[in-house]
Amino acid sequence: MNLSLPVASTPLKGALAVPGDKSLAHRAALFAALAEGTSVVENYPDSGVTRAMRGALESLGVPSSLEDGVLTLKGNGFRPFPNAGATADCGNSATTIRLLAGALAGTGTAATLDGSDGLRKRPMNRIADPLREMGVAVETTEGRAPMAFHTTPAGLKPVDYAVPVASAQVLSCLQIAALGASAASRFTVPGPVRDHTARLLNSMGASIRDDGRTSVVAPLAGTALRPLQARLPGDISSAAFLFVAAALVPGSEVTIANVGVNETRTGILDVLAQMGAQIVRTNERLEMGEPVADVTLVAHPLAAVSVQGDLVVRSIDEFPALAVAAAFAEGRTVVREAKELRFKETDRIAAIVTQLRALGAEVEAFDDGFAVTGGTLKGGTARANGDHRLAMSLALCGLRVPVEVEGAEILNESFPSFVPSLTSLFT
Ligand code: S3P
Repeated sequence: MNLSLPVASTPLKGALAVPGDKSLAHRAALFAALAEGTSVVENYPDSGVTRAMRGALESLGVPSSLEDGVLTLKGNGFRPFPNAGATADCGNSATTIRLLAGALAGTGTAATLDGSDGLRKRPMNRIADPLREMGVAVETTEGRAPMAFHTTPAGLKPVDYAVPVASAQVLSCLQIAALGASAASRFTVPGPVRDHTARLLNSMGASIRDDGRTSVVAPLAGTALRPLQARLPGDISSAAFLFVAAALVPGSEVTIANVGVNETRTGILDVLAQMGAQIVRTNERLEMGEPVADVTLVAHPLAAVSVQGDLVVRSIDEFPALAVAAAFAEGRTVVREAKELRFKETDRIAAIVTQLRALGAEVEAFDDGFAVTGGTLKGGTARANGDHRLAMSLALCGLRVPVEVEGAEILNESFPSFVPSLTSLFT
């Protein structure tokens, strides 16, 4: 599918909600599968990546239903999955494969995890190495999927492990596995990664002490996880595209209601505010242990910004969209200390630079980031590269100059209602 948005001649205005948060949705389904009893989760998003987790759980013997945004799932408990020996297809979803790996390890389930060609390119030694330290028998395919887990005797070895990359997927995998260890494990991470795993598991009866850099996981040791009765907040990583859209079109004012504003995810709001957009949060509250708010963005002229350090970790999925905001800002935006972007759905540093350059922008790649000079993007045709976030970000350029994005159907992996949501803001 080729996607071409109309150049906006009037401001974007309005208030809307976005689908439920994908990071929380993956965790809710997986932890519900590990709980005793039936979980009911509202505002559950239906997209390629959330189907991947539900499909993989079904192959392992834990089916779920999703009707009118309500997920219902009867848990198997924290014990080996019913379909031992199965191969679970994790589609394009790295969160699915890495978190499920932790669950197979912790419950001692023998099964194989596989996925799409794109997923088979992503690094898995970052989880396989520490899992082996915990005594898990896991084989990768040259450090990638397919990954075969063999039955491990109950009671993994507790570890004290420093995760070398600021990755929530790796930390979460290890935290889940550690629920099945014979004593407490301790993990450290080099940056403030999203902490949804600890928050959600603790709300279900686990004991994970997490201060953002260090987490200590007590084994469940026979304690059952309680089922979930929850409603997911809107996904800030989907809202991000609408915020950037509003920031690009002079005079815009857009509110996204009920969006998750967990501090580990709100880097996008901080960066857009630093660039000059006005961001106002109202109706702030806690839902299922997660901060939620209505967030309004009022457009003002954008200025270049420098992004590095913790702000990179807190905006890790938002760089394709931020690069587009930078392309329409005054000055040269520089992003550094962001090498992890090379290990996403695609090498996002290479993809951002190549595609913005194809649209005429002045861009530079660094080993650990990129720079974009605002005001240089002219328009033309760009490619999504099999990356849902790149597809939506490149399409946003079309609000300012004529742009066509090839391969844009990949956006269905994460935000199938992107186009109708955006066009509902046209005035
Ligand atoms: C996610 C963690 C991040 C993020 C991904 C979702 C999660 O990946 O990019 O979209 O739900 O834990 P890393 O942990 O590899 O940085």
